[in-house]
Amino acid sequence: MPDDKDIQLYLRSNLSEKRCLHSRRTAETAEKLCMLYGYDTKKGRTAGLLHDIARELSNSEIFELVERDGMGISSIEKEYPVLLHGRAGAVLAVEKLGMTDEKILDAVRWHTTGKPNMEGLTAVLYVADYIEPGRKHIDNEFRLRIKEMNLNHLVMEVVRSSIAYCRMKGYSVAEQTFMLYHDLEKKVS
Ligand SMILES: [Fe+2]
Ligand SMILES: [Fe+2]
Repeated sequence: MPDDKDIQLYLRSNLSEKRCLHSRRTAETAEKLCMLYGYDTKKGRTAGLLHDIARELSNSEIFELVERDGMGISSIEKEYPVLLHGRAGAVLAVEKLGMTDEKILDAVRWHTTGKPNMEGLTAVLYVADYIEPGRKHIDNEFRLRIKEMNLNHLVMEVVRSSIAYCRMKGYSVAEQTFMLYHDLEKKVS
């Protein structure tokens, strides 16, 4: 299993300064959310550090990596390969860093699109990536409300906001994101 130092070294040689900083802030946010919701804070930190390791790869490198997880590629993913950088990152984390923790790998794999029945560390990372302090679209009022929400509520807020953002920008929304939205509609009243 890689330790923080191994991961930080990998990040520094494979990601831009800007994304290294985003990864560190996501790690700190995931750590705090793990504390709030009762999950392993160390795993939250590791998942946050790792989550974007494939974010700056070329489209062809991303396709090559996800071919190895056996989950196939949808037409939206073919059109927007960036949606696959979580899955590609999980493959990289195993192959380049020797990551074996399935909870951490699952969180990295689904941090971009989310997936239905998302819980625990996977839900925490999905939220942390969206609300880390560098994200200027999240206002203080929202940050203050976090402590009053359970994790499903918080994920629902993030899903709603990211679907609205995609629509505003004219981007397609991944099928898994809609599936997550419908799953949460049943759970969050
Ligand atoms: Fe990402
Ligand atoms: Fe990210």
